[in-house]
Amino acid sequence: MENFLTLFNDRKQKFETFFHEIIFKELQKKFHPLLAEASIYSLNAGGKRVRPILAISAFLSSNSNDIADNVLYIASALECIHTYSLIHDDLPAMDNDDYRRGVLTCHKKFSESTAILAGDALNTFGFYLVSKIVANDNYLHHDILELLHEGAGGPGMVSGQIEDLQLENNPNLFSEETLASIHKKKTGALIVSSLLIGNRLSDNWKLKETAFRLYGEKVGLLFQITDDILDEESSFEELGKTPGKDAANGKLTYPSLYGMEKTKRLRDEIKQELISIAQTLEDSNSIFFKKLPVYIAERKN
Ligand code: IPE
Ligand code: IPE
Ligand code: MG
Ligand code: MG
Ligand code: MG
Repeated sequence: MENFLTLFNDRKQKFETFFHEIIFKELQKKFHPLLAEASIYSLNAGGKRVRPILAISAFLSSNSNDIADNVLYIASALECIHTYSLIHDDLPAMDNDDYRRGVLTCHKKFSESTAILAGDALNTFGFYLVSKIVANDNYLHHDILELLHEGAGGPGMVSGQIEDLQLENNPNLFSEETLASIHKKKTGALIVSSLLIGNRLSDNWKLKETAFRLYGEKVGLLFQITDDILDEESSFEELGKTPGKDAANGKLTYPSLYGMEKTKRLRDEIKQELISIAQTLEDSNSIFFKKLPVYIAERKN
C-alpha cells in the first residue's frame, strides 16, 4: 500500500493547496460572511477528499503527471457538492447527526437555517466552478455539467437520499433491489461522475469512458458497503461521526439485510472484481486504480 498512499497523499496535498488558496478565497469574497464561515467550517473539517482524488486520478491516467488547473477546479466543485450533501444529510429532518468529520455538524455549530443555506450555497458554487474550466472543446462544459447533474442531482444522489429516507423504519420494503438502488444513487452516482469528469478532461476521453463507468459503479458500492460496516463496527474516535446510527434510525443497509458475515464476503468479492477491472484503466506501471479498492475496503473512517 505504500506506493498507493504516497500517490493518494500527494494528489490530496495538491488539491488542498488549490482548495485553500484559490477556492476558499473566492468563496469568502462572494458569500455573506456567516455563509462563508459555515461553509468553510464544513469544507475544512478534514474529509478524506476521495472524490477530488478520483477525478484527478482519472485525469492522470491518460495524461502526464501534470495536474492542470482545470482538473483542480473540477475536484473543488466535487468536494463542495459532496460537502453540501453531508451538511444536509446530517440535518434533523434527514439522519439527525451531531458530529461529522470529528467536529459538530454544521447545524449544531451554527443553526439549522444556516446549515440549510450553507448547503444550498455550496451546491450552486460547485456548479459555478465549472465556469472556470478553460477549453477549446465546445462540448466540454456541456458534458461536465450533465455528468455533475446526473451524479449529484435528481437523477443520482438526491434520488438515492429520498429512497434511503423512504425506507427508514420501513422493513417491509427492504429488498436486494431497493438496497442496490439506494447505494447506487446516493453514493455511487457522484463517485461515477467524479471519475467520468476527470476522464472527460482528457483529449482521448472516449477510450476509457465505459471502463471508468463500470469501475465507478462498483467503487461506489464498495464505498457504501464499507460505510455501512464502519457504522456498526467502528468507534467515534476513528469515524469522526456517531457510530450505530443506521440501526438506531432503522436504515436499510448491507449489514441490516444480509448480516455482517455475508456483507464482508460481498465486500471482498467486489474488491477482487475491481482489481480485475482496474487492469483496463491504466498501463501496468500504475498502481492507483488497482490498490484503490483495497484502500476503500480497509479504510477505518
Ligand atoms: C460519507 O462520505 C458519505 C458517504 C457517501 C458514505 P465520505 O466517507 O467520503 O466522507 P468524508 O468526505 O471523508 O468526510
Ligand atoms: C450518505 O449516506 C450519502 C450521502 C449522499 C451524503 P450516509 O447517511 O450513510 O452517510 P454518513 O454515514 O452519514 O456519512
Ligand atoms: Mg444518510
Ligand atoms: Mg448520514
Ligand atoms: Mg453511513
